[in-house]
Amino acid sequence: MRLLVQIALLALACVVLLAGRAAADELGNVPGEVPPPRAQAAAGAEGRAASAPEPALSNYMLEALLAGLAAGLVANYVRGSRQNAALAAFWEKTIGGVLRANFSVVGDGRQVLERDSASDMLFYASGRRHCRFAQGHLMLSARQDPVALLTDLVGGGREKLELEVVLDDDASSGFVFAAVPRKRARAVGRDRYDIATFASAASNSRVPENLVVFSECADATTQMLDSGLDELLADEGCLLEEIHVTDSPAEKPETHDFERVKKLLATIRLPAPTDDGARRFGETLAFVFYLVDYIAEAVRLRPESARKIAKSRDAAFREFARLAEQKKQEAVAKIAADKRRTELDEVGKMSPEQRRRWEERDRKRALKKSLGKRTRVVK
Ligand SMILES: *[C@@H]1O[C@H](CO)[C@@H](O)[C@H](O)[C@H]1NC(C)=O
Repeated sequence: MRLLVQIALLALACVVLLAGRAAADELGNVPGEVPPPRAQAAAGAEGRAASAPEPALSNYMLEALLAGLAAGLVANYVRGSRQNAALAAFWEKTIGGVLRANFSVVGDGRQVLERDSASDMLFYASGRRHCRFAQGHLMLSARQDPVALLTDLVGGGREKLELEVVLDDDASSGFVFAAVPRKRARAVGRDRYDIATFASAASNSRVPENLVVFSECADATTQMLDSGLDELLADEGCLLEEIHVTDSPAEKPETHDFERVKKLLATIRLPAPTDDGARRFGETLAFVFYLVDYIAEAVRLRPESARKIAKSRDAAFREFARLAEQKKQEAVAKIAADKRRTELDEVGKMSPEQRRRWEERDRKRALKKSLGKRTRVVK
């Protein structure tokens, strides 16, 4: 994708270059070209000798400028890609170490990170108790792409690891819990279906000021914080930016038979690539995997909390079941209406005798139907 943008930029630079050259050719009095009579008259008055070299010079400068820009973009792409590759190799060591200690299958066996673009790397691991698999997205700054880099800078830092662990279905009781930065709380509470539907912002003195915790019951909040999450989040240089536990989709489902999977999501900020940074990053990543075990083995909701959670799921998803049923009935009604319309079209083409017979049959059919309905009502 980024590469595409880069090529588009290059193409744009070339077009501008060509257009600039064409315009300069037209404006400048290139030898051999016959200037239009009026321009000739004007030029004659001022004296051609003085004005001729000047457009030629600006023409050259424009070309040089654009060629320089294109060369700069290419050089920046190569340099930025190399920087990111070196950074990815650095973080791959830490990520690979923690993954190998926690999963039996990591990456494709040879490498941990798979390059998706010059600033995006992906990984996948499976083979661990209490979860089906984990996948991650290491996002680096778009050093190779000045435009994307600018948007990154405007939108806040981008250097982070997004992690998704799909939990075993029976390993934990499903619930929704999240800790997000206060400045993201409004967007998360509005855009994530699971949070908007089931959770609300919980006030808890153990949660630092700069964070908002969304939860659906008090004992889930307490037990999640008991994992050591509260201490981790309260730490000054905490790298864990955002954490979600969920059993429901992030987006509003379209149908009632959507897939419900339990997930643990985490966003970990990348510190400066130093030994200390790598240690802290590795510890934070390992803590997220520890949470997988913790949720499965230590979180035990009270029966009344579990009942409340089940009840709110039923209420939310009953609506989907109703909508699905309504859609089905509408479809059936539409098919019947279509059939009726084609039948009437055919009747329109019949001879009078045929039509009379059809109408009689149709009347009988309608009568039978209404009788059937009435007997059903009587019963
Ligand atoms: C996960 O990785 C961390 C760090 O390497 C390690 O300390 C921990 O024991 C691992 N967890 C399991 C369950 O192997």
